Amino acid sequence: MMLNKELEVTLNKAGDSQLKIKPDQNKLGFGVHFTDHMFVMHWNHEQGWHNAEICAYQNFSLDPAAMVFHYGQEIFEGLKAYRGADNQILLFRPMDNLNRMNNSALRLCMPRMPMKEVLKAMKALIYLDREWVPGNEGATLYIRPTMIATEPALGLKPSSQYTFFIIMSPVGAYYAEGFNPVRIYVEETYVRAVAGGVGEAKTGGNYAASVKALTEAQQKGYAQVLWLDAVERKYVEEVGTSNIFFVIDDQLITPPLSGTILPGITRDSVLQLARDLGIKTLERKITIDEVFQAWENGSLKEVFSTGTAAVISPVGELCYRNQVISINDNKPGELSTMFFNELQALQRGQREDKHNWLVRVA
Ligand code: COI
Repeated sequence: MMLNKELEVTLNKAGDSQLKIKPDQNKLGFGVHFTDHMFVMHWNHEQGWHNAEICAYQNFSLDPAAMVFHYGQEIFEGLKAYRGADNQILLFRPMDNLNRMNNSALRLCMPRMPMKEVLKAMKALIYLDREWVPGNEGATLYIRPTMIATEPALGLKPSSQYTFFIIMSPVGAYYAEGFNPVRIYVEETYVRAVAGGVGEAKTGGNYAASVKALTEAQQKGYAQVLWLDAVERKYVEEVGTSNIFFVIDDQLITPPLSGTILPGITRDSVLQLARDLGIKTLERKITIDEVFQAWENGSLKEVFSTGTAAVISPVGELCYRNQVISINDNKPGELSTMFFNELQALQRGQREDKHNWLVRVA
């Protein structure tokens, strides 16, 4: 695997006729508009990563037998570029995303990519499309690095060819509710991941397997599901698109990284911010019964979820076995609001960057 060879990136700028009209920054939605350019590179055993280029955003031409279409050998990441003061553009912990992607690659038998060089290419891509980084509050540029298996073959094995690409989308809030509390349905019929499976890898199959539960929850009026463990169906795991936190008395509790949940970068950042502020944090197993008991006895103060797309999303209602509980009178709690504000300020360069989380693009 040619991880050490310098990656040469060719720049093929989009022609004037390929440039798009930019969407209204106040009506971005999530992941529906895409910028003018993308980054693409390819991998095979002989050449390692090669033919890297930044080019106009365009369709791929793939063999219908490409293995990604049949066996789902695919991994991806999600991170954001933020517009800070003086128009600077900042990335938040991008190497953590690339490192997680390389961990996902190992689990899915895919080649790892050279992280520093990919970060360099990502920065060049963002700089080229810098006018797409929204400046208004709550809006950011969402970056989606992705790797797919491209060998045309129907025998089950690791593909011998891959394409890695980065596309970018100016986005607003992930949930229609914005920062308003969302309703979450505790899922008992379906499960997301088992120990030894691919639960901690960021691979499309995890998301494909979740849409049935999501659809059914949405039909009941809920924004997302809360997954329980697959064995005993009692320990809380994560929300469909994010990690979950509970504030019980004065403790901030989140399930541990046991191998079945996604090691969220926002999750890790919230834990670090909490420790910096002297808030008691616990990464421990927590049952759904304990959450409901804490609500009964008045010690459940807040519930919120964390993710790159979701940022900090307060949970206003939880439904489990036909019992619906309303958390903090269905209002964003004190800690949820504080983490939301602190994280956003930090990501926009308005706080001291104590942990060296920010990478400046421009
Ligand atoms: C993210 O938060 O970046 C994700 O990848 C979740 C996805 C469903 C938007």
